[in-house]
Formats: sequence, structure tokens, C-alpha cells
Amino acid sequence: MWEVGVMQARTVMDRAYARYSGFYVGACVMSESGKLYAGCNVENVSYSLTVCAETCAIAQMVAGGEVKIKAISVICYGNKPCSPCGACRQRIAEFAAPDVPVYMSCVCDSGKVLHEVCTIAELLPGQFDAAFLNE
Ligand code: THU
Repeated sequence: MWEVGVMQARTVMDRAYARYSGFYVGACVMSESGKLYAGCNVENVSYSLTVCAETCAIAQMVAGGEVKIKAISVICYGNKPCSPCGACRQRIAEFAAPDVPVYMSCVCDSGKVLHEVCTIAELLPGQFDAAFLNE
């Protein structure tokens, strides 16, 4: 299990701006250089403008001058590990090889932390990628 990334995701989860849904999410990307970039969800009164935690973490990585994800962690509160939404799966896939691990975690009501892991290819089979544009 990728403990440092999960810990950073958990730290930023508590900084989420989730005043409308009350659903706090944290994410942490490890880039090719080994650096960690964390992000949380940022909601808006105009609901569709909400930014997911994964998107925020990826934006941090790109702003840091990097474009390759080696691993990503997503965490929420609740009894089921946080699964990235469809749009975030596509955003992760933009910067990740098919075998990149996606660590999904949750902080249960009991305080226990549950984890699941799978690859981005498992989360997003048949993805739309740059090869389509070049054909
Ligand atoms: N959310 C994320 O941050 N990541 C996901 O992959 C799923 C959903 C956020 C968006 C919104 O602020 C809240 O969770 C409820 O949908």
C-alpha cells in the first residue's frame, strides 16, 4: 500500500471546500520524479463548476512542470473506498500508463481506514486516447 500518498490525500481532504455536498475528498498524485501533489474538491454555488479532488491534484502536478503520473490516491469519509468519477478517470488516463495504480481509500465511521487498489485501465476500459486523433 502506498502509505505516504494516502496520508497526504487524507490531510488535504480536511481542507476540501464541500459546503454544498458535505462530501470531502482528497487526492494525491505521485509524479515521474517521485514528487507528491495533493488536491481536494472545491465546490461552487453554481454546482456544475465544482472541481474534483483528483482534478485539483493533477492541475498541481502540471503546474509543477510534470506530466506523468506514477500512482494516485483518492480518499473520502464513509464506509466505501472513494472511486474516481468518470471525468476524473479520463483526466487521470491522460497522464498515466494503463498499469498505473489507483489507490482508493475511505475513513470509516469507526475511524478504520479501508483500501482498494486497481489500475487506471481497469477503471477506464476502452478509453478515448490520442491514437484516435492520429488515425
Ligand atoms: N468528488 C471528487 O472530488 N472526486 C470524485 O471522483 C467524485 C466526486 C467530489 C465532487 C463534489 O464536490 C463531491 O465529491 C460530491 O460529488
